[in-house]
Amino acid sequence: MDDLRQKYIEAIANAADESALEDLRVQAVGKKGEVALKMRELGKMTPEERQVMGPKLNALKDEINSALAAKKSALADAALDERLRTEWLDVTLPGRGRRQGSIHPISQVTEEVAAIFADMGFSVAEGPQIESDWHNFDALNIPGHHPARAEMDTFYMHRAEGDNRPPHVLRTHTSPVQIRSMEIAGAPLRVICPGRVYRADYDQTHTPMFHQVEGLAIDKDISMANLKWVLEEFVKAFFEVDDVELRFRASHFPFTEPSAEVDIRCSWEGGQLKVGEGDDWLEILGSGMVHPKVLMAGNIDPAAWQGFAFGMGIDRIAMLKYGIPDLRAFFDSDLRWLRHYGFASLDTPTLHGGLSR
Ligand code: PHE
Repeated sequence: MDDLRQKYIEAIANAADESALEDLRVQAVGKKGEVALKMRELGKMTPEERQVMGPKLNALKDEINSALAAKKSALADAALDERLRTEWLDVTLPGRGRRQGSIHPISQVTEEVAAIFADMGFSVAEGPQIESDWHNFDALNIPGHHPARAEMDTFYMHRAEGDNRPPHVLRTHTSPVQIRSMEIAGAPLRVICPGRVYRADYDQTHTPMFHQVEGLAIDKDISMANLKWVLEEFVKAFFEVDDVELRFRASHFPFTEPSAEVDIRCSWEGGQLKVGEGDDWLEILGSGMVHPKVLMAGNIDPAAWQGFAFGMGIDRIAMLKYGIPDLRAFFDSDLRWLRHYGFASLDTPTLHGGLSR
C-alpha cells in the first residue's frame, strides 16, 4: 500500500496538465482502478485483517483524492498566472504623444472670426461657389462693361452650345452672399459669410482659390461709425491685443458708397509682425456703406434701410497672425507643414476660453 501511495502521490505532483491528472484519477481511484482492486481483495481476508486493511485503504483513497484536488487547483492557478503574465498591460504609460490630425490654419481662423462676430450678434451665412453672373456682378452694381470684371481674373463656367445666357462663374469674392442673405432674410440683418473664392492668379501671395469673409449689417440707423467700432473690436479680439489703431483710406468699390480700405498700425521689427504699435500700416480689408442699388437688388428699400459691408482675406489675416510667409503652402497638403502650423483638434476657439492659445 505504501508503494501505491508513493507511486500516485509522486505522479500527481508531476502531472503536467488536467488531462494527465484525469488519467491518474482513473488509474488510481476509478471504478476499476488500483485502489478498487485492492478493496476487492478485502473479501479474501480474515475479519481481523479486514479491520486493519479496510480503513487503511479508505484513508489511501481519500489521500489520493485530496492530492488530485490540490493539484487540480494548483494547475488552474498556474494557468491563470501565465495568462495574466502574457496579457499584462502597463496602464501607467503615457497616451500617444503625436496627435494624428490637426486643424488647418484656415479652419482655425474661420472659427476664430465666427466666434468674434457671433459675440457681436452676427450669424454665419453661406452661398454657392459656382455663382450666377448676376449675383457675382450685376447685383453688386458691376454691370457687364465695368472694368472691375476684367480686374478680377474671373473663371467662367462652360456654356452649352447655343446658350446665350451669361455663363456662371466661380465666385470672385464673397460679396454675392450679401445679395443672397438679403433675398433670404431681408432687413434688419447681421451676417458674416466666410468661404472659398476664385481668381486666376498665382504667386507668393496669390492662389487661384483663396478665402474671404464678408460682413454685412443692415438696420435703420447705421453709419460708418458703427463699421469702425465693429472692425476695431474685431481686430483687437482677433490679434489678441488691447489696443489697435485703424486707418480708413478712401477707396472705391462699385457696391459701397462711400468706400474705404482699412489698414492697421503695425511694426515689422526683425521680420516679426507686431500689431498695434509701430510706424507701418497694413491693409487688411475693403469696406463701405452698402450702395442703394445693392440694397434694391436684395429687395430692401434704400429709403428705409442702410448698412455697412466689408470683405477680408482669411488667408491673409491667418498669415499675419500666425507668421506664415507663403500663401501657396496653405494648399500644398505637406504633412510637415500641417503638423507645424496645425491646431489641436479639441481646442475650439472661443472668446471666453481663448482664441488661439
Ligand atoms: N468684395 C471686395 C473684394 O473682394 C471686398 C469688399 C467687400 C469691399 C464688401 C467692400 C465691401 O475685394
